[in-house]
Formats: sequence, structure tokens, C-alpha cells
Amino acid sequence: MRLIIYTGKGGTGKTVNSCSTAIMLAYNKHKTLVISADPAHTLSDALMMSDIGHEPKEILSNLYALQIDPVTEMNKQYGTILSYIASIFSAKGIDETLAYEIAMLPGMTQLFSLLKIEEVMRTKIFDCIVLDMPASGEALRYLYFPKLVGSIGRKLTGLAGIFSGVTRMFQPLSKAPTPSRSVLQSELELLDRLELLSEVIRNPDIASIRLVVNPDTFSIENAKRAFVSASLYGINVDLAIINKIMPLGSPDQYYANWADFQRTKVEEAKSNFYPLPIKEVKLHNSELCGVEMLQMNGELMFGKEDPAKIFYIGKAFAFKTEDSTLRMTVKVPFTEKDDFDIERYGDQLTIKVKNPVGYLVNIIPLPSATIGMKLVKAKLLGDELNILFEK
Ligand SMILES: Nc1ncnc2c1ncn2[C@@H]1O[C@H](COP(=O)(O)OP(=O)(O)OP(=O)(O)O)[C@@H](O)[C@H]1O
Ligand SMILES: [Mg+2]
Repeated sequence: MRLIIYTGKGGTGKTVNSCSTAIMLAYNKHKTLVISADPAHTLSDALMMSDIGHEPKEILSNLYALQIDPVTEMNKQYGTILSYIASIFSAKGIDETLAYEIAMLPGMTQLFSLLKIEEVMRTKIFDCIVLDMPASGEALRYLYFPKLVGSIGRKLTGLAGIFSGVTRMFQPLSKAPTPSRSVLQSELELLDRLELLSEVIRNPDIASIRLVVNPDTFSIENAKRAFVSASLYGINVDLAIINKIMPLGSPDQYYANWADFQRTKVEEAKSNFYPLPIKEVKLHNSELCGVEMLQMNGELMFGKEDPAKIFYIGKAFAFKTEDSTLRMTVKVPFTEKDDFDIERYGDQLTIKVKNPVGYLVNIIPLPSATIGMKLVKAKLLGDELNILFEK
């Protein structure tokens, strides 16, 4: 069983590359489901096929597609709890419509989209699931959410507990409605499922994230944050895809300039995503969509390789906290012999390495735990940079 998750900045090509991957997986005889949690009908657009709904629809032999409807999922999984939480607020005199609005925690829709994956996995029908995450810098946080909600929830006897606690804080003398058996039952069920999901997502033999970027600064920065967050959350990243690369050698100066610029960005991405394997995907001569074109794109991307392969397992970034220090270990594409320089600017670490053609700059986003800490030591051991932060 494999769960492959595509993430990246908006418009970089997550949906089309998810589809290309799914088509190639099916071609390699894996029974595959491609899932999108985007509110728009993106899978239908990419595959140029109507009525892809919230039950798996057969697209090709071995290939199914499903578009998650967060509202349906939420009603199915969270209805009982949601009405209870809303009832706590309305008992305090808050208008019922508003009570429902407040009871919706941020990230809830994404969370329930993930639960759909757990539901599909439990059926054991599919060998591979490809998940096309909605564009958001926060996508990773949602992947970690199951663990977070699971562990907090159990301590406080559930989500309802969190909310009754909150309302009690505001009106200490009034009584909140007691949760019914069915509320507690749905809560425990929900927590069990979240726990299972969180285990699957953090199992590197099953799940991996793939970063999709374009050859531009903005999408590379965005994906780098996701890369560091994934390491923090203990989720394996196995591949980076640089999509929409223009071909070199155009006789037109305008296109030639762009292609040259993109080449430098491709090199930058390669050093920034080190040690991840990289796939380069060209900008096709028309909009990438439709099963035939997506398959051709998949063949260019994976060649004879099976896309289910785990292209990399490892920790590109590791973090360890002790007393008032944080030790960060980063894999770098250079060794002691090279001339390098490290500097910290706010929440970023800049590593400059001198090579024959000039300087190669690698910028690493720092985890929030380093706020209020000072960089005190940096040491290179083999291809690993050890950085020590102190409060
Ligand atoms: N390599 C490519 N060549 C040509 N067109 C491409 C390529 N990759 C993506 N596109 C086109 O770019 C557009 C955006 O692609 P896609 O919808 O897959 O991005 P996305 O990351 O899923 O976007 P969103 O963040 O909105 O979900 C689509 O029109 C798609 O056909
Ligand atoms: Mg998309």
C-alpha cells in the first residue's frame, strides 16, 4: 500500500502531476485511486471527464478518481459532535447559526478530507492512493493535525471537552449541556480514526510527500518551507518535481532570456532540495490536460520507473531540543574541503558555498522554536551541517 501526497504552491501543477502519476501507477498494474480535496472540480478538468464525484469513479483499467466534498464528509463524520458543540454555545445565548460558525475549527474541512482517505484505506481496495492537496502553505499542518487533535482530544475527553472548557471559562456559573452517549461515542471513533491516519502518514514505507515547484523563486521558497515542516512533523519527502521548464535555445530573445533564468532556478532548486531526487518536467506546448497528454507527461517524468517506488527515505533536516538549546542537522551538497559561510537572517539561515562559477546560496527556513534563540555554533561533519541554537 502506498500513499503519495502532492503539495506545492498554487498553480505549480499538483493536480496534473498527481493525475500523471496515477495513470502511470495504473499502467504499472497497481490498483490506484487519485483523490483531490480541492473545492473546485479540478480532477474533472485535468482528466477532461465529467461527473467525478465523491465515490471512486473508474477512469481507466486499474485507475479510479474521487473528488472529496468536504461538506458531505463533515456531515458524515462530525455531525453529532458539531451539533453538540453548537448546543453549548447556544445554551450561552449565542445565536444558533453563529454557534455553528464558531464550532467550526480552522482546518476542519481539510481534516475531514483526510478522514476520507482513512475510510478508503480501510476498505483495502486500492494498492496506491495519490492525494492532490489543495494549494496552501499550511497543507503540512493539516497532515499533522490528526496526531495533534488525537493527543489533545484524549486528554480532554475529546473535542467537545475542549469547547465546554472554553465556554466555562467565559461563564463560570452556568452549566453546559452534558454530552450524550452518542456524542462521546462519535468522539472516540473519530479519535481512533485520526490516530490510525496519523500513523499511516508518518510511516515512510507507506506515505511520502512529493513537492511540486516551478523554476521560480516564489514556488521554490514555498516548497522549502513544506520540506522543513515535513521533517519537523516526521513525514517523509521522497521527490521534488520541477515543472513547466521552458526549453533552451529559442531563437527569440524573449523566450531565450526566460529559459536562461529558469536554468539558474533549476540549479538553485536542486541544491535547495538536496538530497532529494529531482524530476524535471518541461512546459508542454499547450495546456497539460486529458488522459492521453497526462499519460505522455507521466512517461516523460518516470520513464521505466515505477512511480510507486519510494525515491528517498531519510531526514534531510533533523532537530533535537535539549534544555535551552536546539540542535539542527542539515544535509548539504558540499564537504569540509569547500569554502562556505553561514549567516542567519530572522527566520532563515543562509548558507553560501564558493564553487568554480561563483557562490551557491542555500536558504533554509528555520523552525519557529528558534525564535528567541541565537545561532552559537555551526560545524560541518561529512555532508552534514550541525547547527546549535541557544536561548
Ligand atoms: N508541464 C506543463 N506544461 C503545460 N501546462 C502545464 C504544465 N503543468 C501544469 N500545466 C497547466 O498549468 C495549470 C495549473 O496546473 P494544475 O491545476 O495542475 O496546478 P495546481 O498546482 O493543481 O493548481 P491549484 O493550486 O490551483 O490546485 C493547468 O492549466 C495545467 O494544465
Ligand atoms: Mg490543483
